[in-house]
Amino acid sequence: MRPDSPAPVRLEEYRPPAYRISTVDLDIRLAPRAAKVRARLALERAPGTVPGTPLVLDGDELRLTALSLDGRALADTDCTITPDRLEIASPPAGPFTLEIETVLDPDANTKLMGLYRSNGTYCTQCEAEGFRRITYFLDRPDCLAVYTTRIEARVSEAPVLLGNGNPVESGPVPGTDRHYAVWHDPHPKPAYLFAMVAGDLACVRDSFRTCEGRDVALNIYVEHGNEGACGWAMDSLKRSMVWDEEVFGRAYDLDVFNIVAVSDFNMGAMENKGLNIFNDKYVLARPETATDQDYAGIETVIAHEYFHNWTGNRITCRDWFQLCLKEGLTVFRDQEFSADMRSRAVKRIADVRLLKSHQFPEDAGPLAHPVRPRLYHEINNFYTATVYEKGAEVVRMLKSLIGDAAFRAGMDLYFRRHDGEATTIEAFLACFQEASGLDLDQFSLWYEQAGTPVLKVDSSYENEAGRLTLTFRQHLPPSPGQSEKKPMHIPVRFGLMGADGRELVPGGVAGAEVTGDVLHIRSPQQTVVFSGLTERAVPSVLRGFSAPVSLKTDLSEADLLFLAANDKDPFNRWEALQSVVMTTLIAATAGTARQDPVAISPALIAAFAANVADDTLEPAFRALCLHLPGEADIAREIGHNVDPDAIHAARGAIRRAVADDIAPEILATYEAMRDGATFSPDARSAGRRALRNTLLDYLGHGSDPAGAARVQAHFEAADNMTDRFAALTVLIHADLPGRAEALAAYEARYHAVPLAMDKWFMAQATAPSGATLDRVRDLTGHPAFSPANPNRVRALVGAFASGNQSQFNRPDGAGFTFVADFARDLDRRNPQAAARMMSAFRSWRALEPGRRAHAEAALRHLAAEGDLSADMRDIVERCLQ
Ligand code: BES
Ligand code: ZN
Repeated sequence: MRPDSPAPVRLEEYRPPAYRISTVDLDIRLAPRAAKVRARLALERAPGTVPGTPLVLDGDELRLTALSLDGRALADTDCTITPDRLEIASPPAGPFTLEIETVLDPDANTKLMGLYRSNGTYCTQCEAEGFRRITYFLDRPDCLAVYTTRIEARVSEAPVLLGNGNPVESGPVPGTDRHYAVWHDPHPKPAYLFAMVAGDLACVRDSFRTCEGRDVALNIYVEHGNEGACGWAMDSLKRSMVWDEEVFGRAYDLDVFNIVAVSDFNMGAMENKGLNIFNDKYVLARPETATDQDYAGIETVIAHEYFHNWTGNRITCRDWFQLCLKEGLTVFRDQEFSADMRSRAVKRIADVRLLKSHQFPEDAGPLAHPVRPRLYHEINNFYTATVYEKGAEVVRMLKSLIGDAAFRAGMDLYFRRHDGEATTIEAFLACFQEASGLDLDQFSLWYEQAGTPVLKVDSSYENEAGRLTLTFRQHLPPSPGQSEKKPMHIPVRFGLMGADGRELVPGGVAGAEVTGDVLHIRSPQQTVVFSGLTERAVPSVLRGFSAPVSLKTDLSEADLLFLAANDKDPFNRWEALQSVVMTTLIAATAGTARQDPVAISPALIAAFAANVADDTLEPAFRALCLHLPGEADIAREIGHNVDPDAIHAARGAIRRAVADDIAPEILATYEAMRDGATFSPDARSAGRRALRNTLLDYLGHGSDPAGAARVQAHFEAADNMTDRFAALTVLIHADLPGRAEALAAYEARYHAVPLAMDKWFMAQATAPSGATLDRVRDLTGHPAFSPANPNRVRALVGAFASGNQSQFNRPDGAGFTFVADFARDLDRRNPQAAARMMSAFRSWRALEPGRRAHAEAALRHLAAEGDLSADMRDIVERCLQ
């Protein structure tokens, strides 16, 4: 760290707030360049606070225009005021009222934190520390208050005025062209859940009756013209509400639930109490503009934010170190919801793919941190795959270890005991320990220790004894700030497969505690013996990916392909095939350096052929099986001295070999998956499209020149975005004839639909061609691009940095320089977006020496800049450590 970096925030330095705020009355008078905010706070000293302790409120770039305490203006001698802080030297002993008036400039707010405008609509984003950009406050999640908000604006500018909670009153402001609305939220909440919206918006209405008999008005607000694209979001919301009642026993607790879609938003969406604000990408969907993946994403994000109402809002975090308490748990809940709405097996595979491609590399590099970090410089940079995805895995493991019934009892206890509180991971775990009787001390290390454990499993079968012995060895490599690691409590779900594909039941299991079909592995080395077997068993371990570990088994290719065809656990069928494919890809990558011809075993080809043609398997599952691991996945498995061009060449050669060797099966199933019916986003139809489009990718990358014509025809015949975008991507990535025409046709059709243009940018930014960098640079000048919009930036530059291994990691370093320069400019406007983009550098140390030197130079160049934001400086310096 540079000597002038501010001190980090540490978990062990947590202290409860010295003052309490019981109510907050806000009066917000909106105007584009000067919005006036009057905040009346009811304060008192917290019990245990020494009299005379100063009151220190947080601010961020604030301009104070008036300040009074119990109705009297404060003298300069009584307080110190800066844009970032308000300190009152010695507040009264008893309860007192502070009135603060600030003036904000929403139009100048390009950080999209606090109060800003998106396409003319006033909106707010306060998580994690944005409320302090609206008024001075105890801006921390353990300060819970009851909010009443009065919003006032010009009628013509903002006919719609929304706040948290329930509407109380509204009307014109007599003698002016303005009107107002008052909202009251009876549930005490931290400031990060505050929100308001004002604008000229259309509304789609529906309603829901809860299991407790409450009638809830459901409203989705969008820009005029988008009313017809809200149906899927509304449907997803109603299904989420039913599901949370049925599966977790949780009902909604206000009379209205409002969702607003805005086009400028840093994240996906935000769970503000009663007023969720969404990136429009996660609300708007029409068959013409949204892919099946977009539909699935909307369903997940709508559910996620709704589920926060209980896990996050009713029970919130004591401090930001506990972020996974709400995020990991809520991701677990949205994963389970989607699994119930769709195919559980397909959902689990998709989630594990995401975990391995986003979280594993984070855990293996300089940005590694525990699910519950103990130190941060900038909390914005800790909304990570580790806190979210690994955080969800930890909850899933807990459920596996204690069983479904104890898990539900633990959740019920958590809701009962901590409703209305700001709490901790310890309090959460205590509920499950009580409900199950299982000692969770060792388990809690999953929250403390960073890094992905390596779990090695060796097996030996003794025929005469009828005994299978599995030896588990776990190892957790060092990570930043943690050199010594303790052994983890790992749930290993298992099964034993007999030769005819039947599941074998052992007479006994020794060497590990067992819950159902889950082994408790707790020691660095642990031997588990299955006895009473009548034939050789192939062990299927880590079924359903029961723990986020890197599994290394000694199973032969033959055993793995046997599992791929026969395992009773669909996840392990997929995983077994993937592991054979990965071994093949790694060997092929090593082979490219020696210019070896590609080697792919006949047994693997046969497995692919069988999979493509197997109509007993759901199409979405087959699509996942046929999907080769991505270039970044291969790089992660190789781990060091990575040459992205060699990986790209090897993967391309294997894809071509598969395409050519099983061409008849591919074509037959491609034709069979054609769907005559009109578009429906349901999981079954989406699965057929997924399989057909996966096969299209093979057709476009095979040696048969007829493939190109098929891809072109697919593009031209497409009657929905899923098919159109799939074909466009293959045309560009395989550099097929008709590519330029397709790009032009797409652009002509969608130039005025920003979310559709994002796909057009993305398809080009991820093309594995030496010309891509120049193209991306040119596209930053395209009329549909804007550096001010986070979706556009992510679709073009973000996709290039994170989704184009060979071109971002160009051997001449030009990809690194471009992204670093772009992020440097973006940082002046939007530090959060810039810092997120820079996380593409997180695996730079694993590169071969030439590229590594270029990446380091780009990072050092940035680190030497004097005026980086705290967000950027934190990422750049941790990358370099
Ligand atoms: N609370 C977050 C939104 C958020 C993140 C606000 C970071 C401020 C900083 C929200 O609940 C969330 O997690 N959204 C995710 C999507 C979700 C489905 C995982 C997001 O925005 O990506
Ligand atoms: Zn969340």
